[in-house]
Amino acid sequence: MKRSLTIIFLLFFLLAGCAPAASVTAPAFTPTPRTVAYLDSSRDVEARVADLLGRMTLEEKIGQMTQVATDIILPGDVNRYYLGSILSGGSGIPLENSLSGWIDMVDGFQAEALTTRLAIPILYGIDAVHGLGHLKGATIFPQNIGLGAANDIELMRSIGRATAEEMLAAGINWNFAPVIAVPQDIRWGRTYEAYGEETGLVSALGAAYIEGLQSVPEMTAAAPGQTLGVLATAKHYLGDGGTLWGSPNQVNQGVRYMLDQGNMQANEETLRALYLPPYQAAVDAGAMSVMVSFSSWNGTKMHAHRYLITSVLKGELGFQGFVVSDWAGINQIQPDNYYESVVTAINAGIDMAMIPDSYTNFISSIDQAVKNEDITLERIDDAVTRILRVKFLLGLFDHPYADPVFRSAVRSSDHLALAEQAVRESLVLLKNDSGALPVDPNASTILVAGVAADNTGMQSGGWTLGWQGINTNDVVGSTILDGIRIRAGGGTEILYRSAGMFTDLAGKAPVGIVVVGETSYAEGVGDKADLRLTQDDIDIIERMRPKVETLIVVIISGRPLVIYDQYPVADAWVAAWLPGSEGAAVADVLFGGYPFTGRTPYSWPRSNAQLPINVNNSAGLTGCQAPLFPFGYGLGEAASLPVEWFTCEAARE
Ligand code: GLC
Repeated sequence: MKRSLTIIFLLFFLLAGCAPAASVTAPAFTPTPRTVAYLDSSRDVEARVADLLGRMTLEEKIGQMTQVATDIILPGDVNRYYLGSILSGGSGIPLENSLSGWIDMVDGFQAEALTTRLAIPILYGIDAVHGLGHLKGATIFPQNIGLGAANDIELMRSIGRATAEEMLAAGINWNFAPVIAVPQDIRWGRTYEAYGEETGLVSALGAAYIEGLQSVPEMTAAAPGQTLGVLATAKHYLGDGGTLWGSPNQVNQGVRYMLDQGNMQANEETLRALYLPPYQAAVDAGAMSVMVSFSSWNGTKMHAHRYLITSVLKGELGFQGFVVSDWAGINQIQPDNYYESVVTAINAGIDMAMIPDSYTNFISSIDQAVKNEDITLERIDDAVTRILRVKFLLGLFDHPYADPVFRSAVRSSDHLALAEQAVRESLVLLKNDSGALPVDPNASTILVAGVAADNTGMQSGGWTLGWQGINTNDVVGSTILDGIRIRAGGGTEILYRSAGMFTDLAGKAPVGIVVVGETSYAEGVGDKADLRLTQDDIDIIERMRPKVETLIVVIISGRPLVIYDQYPVADAWVAAWLPGSEGAAVADVLFGGYPFTGRTPYSWPRSNAQLPINVNNSAGLTGCQAPLFPFGYGLGEAASLPVEWFTCEAARE
């Protein structure tokens, strides 16, 4: 349905005589000498905001507060309703998934916005949470869990900038990232989207990413006075990672969520100690948008929480940007009364609504609410002021379209090198007995097994070429098996069989590498109580054991998995998390080209029964009560204490 709409939309423009941007180069957009104040980029941002606001009708103001998904936008409605933003949600991918396909789509919406009376450009938003994941051929960085393990501030900033460059090449100027949740229960399907379970780690890395994302020097040079390259979004405010198992009542795609969008039961002291500091750090780093969480705090939906949104975020923390709802998040306030939900959300402090359904209903509800004096004009003006402030800071009025300057940045050698560095620094060495690692590149034979050993989709995880990610090799990049083939010596025979069936081989090969793990998922679809390895993976490990001298297991996953029973079987264990498109870089470290420096950003449980277990609730636990690996554990250069192995019958499922 979406694809046919895009065709209609493009035809509309051709017929209407204002064709969107050429598919190869952005239209020559030279800002004409501007007589009116708001169009004069030499003026102070606040003065431009005030001038523009003073020219706007109520209809135009409400349009700015409306963000609509590409999946449902009708041709001409960006212009008709003066929309402030368009987004690609999990599936808003253009008919032709190429850079020019994205430029056509995004610049097409922008061209339509610039035909409105005041020519206010749109913000185009997307979840580029680990690179521009939906663009085929983009550089896909490790998911945040791996970057938490790497814990490298400069690397984080560089990834933010590289992501911004690839987004700007496509004309996309708003990233719904970073997630700065502090997950306390790894059964949550969004664990991998966060940096870790410890507040300080999350605060530091989130701030660094925001600085990188919002400071693309070329943009700054092009539009003096603006400080933002791409708009970052600190999300999801507040306490999305602190919900209780079983508390949600959300069902999506037939899956009942068990943690995602649930209820966080904590006192305010805990809320302020655990979950709020990353937002202060984000505001201090210049974040100019915040997305509200679907979750609740002690039973009150965050989308309705005036105290936390207006008094705390905008008041106490001094947040000057705008607050956006999550995907139809407003509807959840009072599911059977949309008007009241809209009134409550806007009065709570939400400035823009993310709407994947009836945007005309949202627009008419706000209009009616102002007429009823249920929403004041002052609240509307505050919301629109915040939105316009961001658009001026981004320099959108001066360069609204995809920027050819960044076209060559997409999957550039610099970006690939950065992604490879991130993969290497993200690896956590959990066990290395009898010198299993590094792998001898001159071994006569290396047996490789596991579907995830040769699968760029699994190694990327969710938000990649689609909301739930994919489990095929359609992500442009390299696999762990590719890396093994590159790193092994010319005389080494490498045999790959995904199921590990090598019974036809006589004797034992010197080395066996098994890659186990999770298939891709996103959000509550990934909520899961049983984190043990799959039976297939367990079978492969057991099948490989007698066939090799040294057995190494690499884990591809969005969280720590329960490996307790298999841990003694293998000589070495490596957590690779979700490395993204450049999986070959895992082998750089396996073969000793680089040291292991990663540290687990989540406490590693011995069993499902221990969950939830984290750095905040496991202090003082010893023996079988303690995690298998504590937060911050990892063997390597700054060697941690090797975990003392002992059986814990009681801890077993
Ligand atoms: C989703 C997510 C949010 C994302 C938004 C747009 O439901 O909760 O993180 O940014 O919708 O895709």
